[in-house]
Amino acid sequence: MVYLTRGVVATGLTLLAHSVAVTAKESSASPIVADGTHFALNGKNVAYRFHVDNTTGDLLGDHFGGSVGDNIPLEVIGEVNGWVSDIGRVRREFPDQGRGDYRVPAISIRQSEGYTVSEFRYKSHKIIPGKPALPGLPATMGTEEDVSTLVISMYDKYSDVAADLSYSIFPKHDAIVRSVNVTNHGTGNITIESLASLSVDLPYEDLDMINLRGDWAREAQRERRSVAYGLQSFGSSNGYSGHLHNPFLALTEPSTTESQGEAWGFSLVYTGSFTVNVEKGSQGFTRALMGFNPSQLSWVLPPGETLTSPECVSVYSKDGIGGMSRSLHRLYRNHLIKSKFATSDRPTLLNSWEGLYFDFNQSSIYDLAKEAAGVGAKLFVLDDGWFGKEYPRLSDNAGLGDWVPNPDRFPDGLEPLVKKITDLKAANTSTNMRFGIWFEPEMVNPNSTLYDEHPDWALHAGPYPRTEARNQLVLNLALPEVQDYIIKSVSDVLKSADISYVKWDNNRGINETPSPATNHAYMLGMYRVFNELTTQFPDVLWEGCASGGGRFDPGVLQYFPQIWTSDNTDAIDRISIQLGTSLAYPPSAMGAHLSEVPNHQTGRTVPVAVRAHVAMMGGSFGLELNPAVMDEEDKAAVPGLVALAEKVNPIILNGDMWRLNLPEDSNWPAVLFIAEDARNAVLFVFQVAPNVNHSWPRIKLQGLDPQASYKVDDGVVYTGATLMNIGLQFAFKGDYGSQVVMLEKQ
Ligand code: DGJ
Repeated sequence: MVYLTRGVVATGLTLLAHSVAVTAKESSASPIVADGTHFALNGKNVAYRFHVDNTTGDLLGDHFGGSVGDNIPLEVIGEVNGWVSDIGRVRREFPDQGRGDYRVPAISIRQSEGYTVSEFRYKSHKIIPGKPALPGLPATMGTEEDVSTLVISMYDKYSDVAADLSYSIFPKHDAIVRSVNVTNHGTGNITIESLASLSVDLPYEDLDMINLRGDWAREAQRERRSVAYGLQSFGSSNGYSGHLHNPFLALTEPSTTESQGEAWGFSLVYTGSFTVNVEKGSQGFTRALMGFNPSQLSWVLPPGETLTSPECVSVYSKDGIGGMSRSLHRLYRNHLIKSKFATSDRPTLLNSWEGLYFDFNQSSIYDLAKEAAGVGAKLFVLDDGWFGKEYPRLSDNAGLGDWVPNPDRFPDGLEPLVKKITDLKAANTSTNMRFGIWFEPEMVNPNSTLYDEHPDWALHAGPYPRTEARNQLVLNLALPEVQDYIIKSVSDVLKSADISYVKWDNNRGINETPSPATNHAYMLGMYRVFNELTTQFPDVLWEGCASGGGRFDPGVLQYFPQIWTSDNTDAIDRISIQLGTSLAYPPSAMGAHLSEVPNHQTGRTVPVAVRAHVAMMGGSFGLELNPAVMDEEDKAAVPGLVALAEKVNPIILNGDMWRLNLPEDSNWPAVLFIAEDARNAVLFVFQVAPNVNHSWPRIKLQGLDPQASYKVDDGVVYTGATLMNIGLQFAFKGDYGSQVVMLEKQ
């Protein structure tokens, strides 16, 4: 065994010629191996290696990628005739500040004296079976068979601050999860100015980065670019994960495609503001950091207290971007989403928003529910506008905060209406309709009884004006009394009638706060509320929403198994939005609805089957329209489309997703879902623009068993090899077209 001993750097000398190897005993047998202070995390197809530099006590990265053997070659430093900074030339696991590593640090602490220098050295480590929960934060979870944890304790002896790095590996999913605990063992307060959950240095090579950018109604647009020398950053500063950038990053080789090549995926389990930094340093190493947004942290840590960072999930795949996504999907389905509905059938729903907006009363709601049942929906969801007594919610300028039914609209409260609706049977079934309801509990309108009584509960910064957005303010969920108020008012409504579904909306970002740290304190309060309510009402199916996909993140998914993907319900736009979202998140988590034409957001008219086919690629399929005003022919098609959605739904919820053609590359976007047991599969193929007097492309399938035979749509049988190497061909007429094809293994 040869350990790396770094040379001393001096001016004008020839230095640093190491070509050394490191071992970690039984490196591939156990998920975690500690050989002295050399560490190996081993997945099915992934290895993550790092060690302690014996001279400096720094933690240095050796490898994050495909599986490797016992001995791995370390960095060859080569001869340098002149001066070099040692610390700037190594791959660091936890880069601190002020010691000559001029790249972005993973931690920055301001001590009471004003210093921002830290010197975290290795102190000890321990291996824990399983994975401890993160206090107050959402986190992946699993049994001792699923996951193992390595905790590396680092210590800065000058400030008496400890940093514990927790690495957990889920070997089956090739996923490594990291979080950091910072504890102040000193005697004075310290302020944590920045803290990254993930910090990883990859070796010198050309890489691409992929992230998801967007805005309201055009979320999750895939953005790919080369990682250039210098810093490339993105993130969110609006107090929640946001429409503009998702807390997800992929790094790939430049030649990596959907189905081939190396891909690293990083996903932050957090709903608040965040920052991603990708920095290619002067030596060509690429550093990736992901964690709190430093401009909204300044977290004061008194003696004896600990700040726990959110965790960041890292996955690695040799099978391209698709392989990376499937690892994240499986991990999130099995080890993140707590709800019992994570992968079980979701009822087809009809949501009242685009059908009626704010314009309804008790009888028009009942009529809409009857229409919903008539076309086969199993769940009716009453969206915005049902509440407010002194300040009734007739538009978006009043009522938020007052979670009592509007007495003019519901003179007898919700209960009798819910009873009537849940007595309805979905068309041609003996299934009773279920009832769901909308809330936006983190908000308050200045026109509300709540605001009259507690103006101080709204977030504000001393005397500064409170910026309103959509006529509303954000409640300060860092305050326990606000958390308690929300828990009580939502519980009271849920107990008042037979309500089995909640859509939890959030329609604006955070502006003025009493201090930067309020942003994270808000998140801790919000997670407490989510946790209490979902624990108290485990039989309720919870859906997250933030003006569409403004909070589509793993933090929300821990509590809510599905999220409304976008307020843009245009089927063609939705193909990109849903496929973009699927880069990090399982299709099971996406709410997707068939809506009316012309589409309310884009004005486009797309055939009803195409609209439905796109929506049924989401785990929660629904309708967002009033069937009573639909074109007769379209309306007649809905029950059949609902039946098809229900047939494919178990595959969407549990299966693996293969993005065959991307909407940004092809006029024929195509997606294959293969059931968990690989017996069934469903193929979706779309056409976006007409194809006149031209032949038709073949859609080559992926992920099938080449030797097995598959019956295609109850007809011809082909081998997996034929379906993957020749593919299936489709012809469409007109501009927008779609086909859904079922495959059954023989
Ligand atoms: C924004 C959501 O995304 C919509 O679906 C709808 O619930 C409205 N809010 C209601 O105000």
